[in-house]
Amino acid sequence: MTDIIDRLFYGRSVSDDELSLLISCDENDSLLFEKADAVRRKVYGNEVFIRGLIEISSYCRNNCFYCGIRAGNRDAERYRLTPDEILSCCRKGHELGFRTFVLQGGEDDAFNDDIICSLVSRIKSEFPECAVTLSLGEKSRESYAAYRKAGADRYLLRHETADEDHYRKLHPAGMDLNKRKKCLYDLKSLGFQTGAGFMVGSPFQTTENLVADIRFLEELKPEMIGIGPFIHHSGTPFADRPDGSVSLTLRLLAILRLMFPEVLLPATTALGTLLPDGRERGLKAGANVVMPNLSPVSVRKKYSLYENKICTGEEAAECLNCLKNRIRSAGYEMSFSRGDHKNYNRGATDVKI
Ligand code: SAM
Ligand code: FES
Repeated sequence: MTDIIDRLFYGRSVSDDELSLLISCDENDSLLFEKADAVRRKVYGNEVFIRGLIEISSYCRNNCFYCGIRAGNRDAERYRLTPDEILSCCRKGHELGFRTFVLQGGEDDAFNDDIICSLVSRIKSEFPECAVTLSLGEKSRESYAAYRKAGADRYLLRHETADEDHYRKLHPAGMDLNKRKKCLYDLKSLGFQTGAGFMVGSPFQTTENLVADIRFLEELKPEMIGIGPFIHHSGTPFADRPDGSVSLTLRLLAILRLMFPEVLLPATTALGTLLPDGRERGLKAGANVVMPNLSPVSVRKKYSLYENKICTGEEAAECLNCLKNRIRSAGYEMSFSRGDHKNYNRGATDVKI
């Protein structure tokens, strides 16, 4: 097993069987975390990049079986921030030092392309030095191109699972893995720094599924990879399913850092929800991004993807201070730079449709 870790450390390939073995065995976790940390320090030093997350809408037309804000959850409280409210979250974040804003939400038709484009241009003209990341689900290539033209720099769209059968067990009929993959390739070809990813321990997930996820990521070459444990929500068909495992999430973070040395890898809120020091452990296993919440405190509890989500009561400044201390305690420093991907060429903004 140490030989497999060594080969990943030196950038060599491993077989599917070897990857399965590494994923399913916890015996070498400390060596794995040590090597992942060494790679991350070599590429990004001790910096942890901060992204301000603004949850712009809890309306969603989709019905993903795992998600607390799915359309079919009648008990979900719905809200939609206005463009002015979103701008004021950005202003507050900017004052605190944030240089990346992530606008995330359900697939809400009220946020049509014109509204999204005008919002992105307003943010970019007020804060030209900042990066704007969108995470608003599946759209047409034309819509993505329009967002890019308006100035959006990055897009997060987890593929959720790279296995078709597994995808069908997590989503209702009408949702299609190939469509999601096409969105990701569209985003890449339009010059977005693109994030894919998946939940760890989602219902029916097997080790083979995780190997397929990693192989898909190798093919896509995303700039960001978002992974976090699945956490049940009572208003979903998966209410009784067990939560994902923290230790498996940490092991996968480390494997991803070894296989994708330059990738931007968040220690997610879901990880911090299952274990109080989950995010710090994620950083020590190779993660190098955290995404504190900049949404107004009044709406935080309504963006309820899963139960017991942390940081729903604190103001952004409190969250930031708490995170700064947590990051330092883990042996890293919070960075206020835009934190672009190492190989990203900021000059290249040509939009090809
Ligand atoms: N609508 C956009 C999309 O589909 O990409 C962005 C919002 S969606 C809620 C963001 C991510 O939350 C999903 O990609 C999913 O992986 C994650 N998520 C949803 N429900 C979750 C749960 N119960 N536990 C952990 N993560 C969850
Ligand atoms: Fe749409 Fe979760 S089902 S955001």
